[in-house]
Amino acid sequence: RSNYIVMSAVRSNSASTCPVLTKFQKDCDTPTPYLRNVANAIADDMRAGLAVEGGGDLDMILTYVDALPSGNEEGLFYALDLGGTNFRVRSVQLGGKKKRVIATESEQISIPQKLMIGTSEELFGFIAAKLASFVAKEKPGRFQLEEGRKREIGFTFSFPVKQTSIDSGTLIKWTKGFKVSGMEGKNVVACLNEAMEAHGLDMRVSALVNDGVGTLAGARYSDEDVMIGVILGTGTNACYVEQKHAIPKLQSKSSSGTTIINTEWGGFSKVLPQTIFDQEMDANSPNRGEHVVEFYPFFNNIYVFLFLFLQLFTVCVWMKLYEKMISGMYLGEIVRRVLLQMCETSDLFGQFVPVKLSTPFELRTEHLCKMQEDTTDDLQTVGSVLYNILEVEANLNARRRVVEVCDTVVKRGGRLAGAGIVAILEKIEEETKRMGSGKRTVVAMDGALYEKYPQYRQYMQDALVELLGDKLSHIAIKHTKDVSGLGAALLAATNSIY
Ligand code: GLC
Repeated sequence: RSNYIVMSAVRSNSASTCPVLTKFQKDCDTPTPYLRNVANAIADDMRAGLAVEGGGDLDMILTYVDALPSGNEEGLFYALDLGGTNFRVRSVQLGGKKKRVIATESEQISIPQKLMIGTSEELFGFIAAKLASFVAKEKPGRFQLEEGRKREIGFTFSFPVKQTSIDSGTLIKWTKGFKVSGMEGKNVVACLNEAMEAHGLDMRVSALVNDGVGTLAGARYSDEDVMIGVILGTGTNACYVEQKHAIPKLQSKSSSGTTIINTEWGGFSKVLPQTIFDQEMDANSPNRGEHVVEFYPFFNNIYVFLFLFLQLFTVCVWMKLYEKMISGMYLGEIVRRVLLQMCETSDLFGQFVPVKLSTPFELRTEHLCKMQEDTTDDLQTVGSVLYNILEVEANLNARRRVVEVCDTVVKRGGRLAGAGIVAILEKIEEETKRMGSGKRTVVAMDGALYEKYPQYRQYMQDALVELLGDKLSHIAIKHTKDVSGLGAALLAATNSIY
């Protein structure tokens, strides 16, 4: 076939003794004591981030969400959800304790690729236009806005935001492939407001929330033991209920009660089982060493040497490595990179390197999942995924090797995600002694990776069992699909100006 690069220097190692794979498997290994270290290191960075701004790898963002939904919320509210390649609009008619959600309608719209790397006016203009047509289609009998009220929105914006109040915040940095120009450091609510005004939409944002916060709030509506919201999708994050007295950086007079913390745990980068493939992927990602830019103002010429040193240091430290090891956007890409090196150094697919295998992000996490689900003796589905996606004909030995690579990456990802959940559960326990008193703690999970990848879920669960032992009996891991929109609408209700 024409889609091959002939490798003149391919060594003819048999696939069954592939040194690249053996080394990779070893480097990715996460035995229980290793996971314990990871969980402890995440918990340490949580404490450091709660103590002072930028104290650890985790941003530990104050969300200003002090009250979670009670069930008493009433009226018509909206949710706008931007965080991936799609955005979603939802309307929710809330009927208080007895009637709960009376009616809800939603629409999902895919965001053209060029808008993800265009200007803020283009992106928010597009969103406002779609929102306007969604509202225009509303059936009057089904949804009722109280007289004299504006339509209020809970805006789920799933990127790291420095929140300045419940309804405003500035974008810290783009993640997940977004790179809209001129937005970092800007108030995202103001951008949306301007666009809505330009489209003649008389709506206001009453709550700006992260998807983790939305998931926590939406899940709490029907279960008051929910304490953590975890997203395992394109990106990853965890938000949880923290005691205010445990947040030294909270400069408020009252330190009683609780508030929600958005951990932005994807930024964690210490003690992780990093391989050359992770480093190379990071070096080629759009958000590599993002924080470097924020360091510029602190230096002047006489500190050039120090500056360069620190720049190198920040590139090494702030790589959002945890997200790149455990979330859906990256697992397929890591596998592709390993396969490429296996091809180049041994005869995985014969004496050729398929051209498609050299194309970044060609192999996606959903393909890994499909291949791992194949239980046939001759791994037929694996063969056809490789044929359709990478345009390569793989013999049985090669198919087995490919599955081994997928499993190594997915196992490491699932287990590391489990260690993160344990870190948060133990942090909550440290403050509240809930589990100790026999109380149930619920972790609300959402995201396509968690939902659609059974092996990943299983590896995550294994890590929880290994690290928590008997304590796990007080914990429920609950899949709460798509509740973040409801959560955002509920938080708009809780923070309504009326
Ligand atoms: C990325 C974002 C974070 C979001 C997560 C899941 O890590 O930085 O804000 O919650 O993806 O969507």
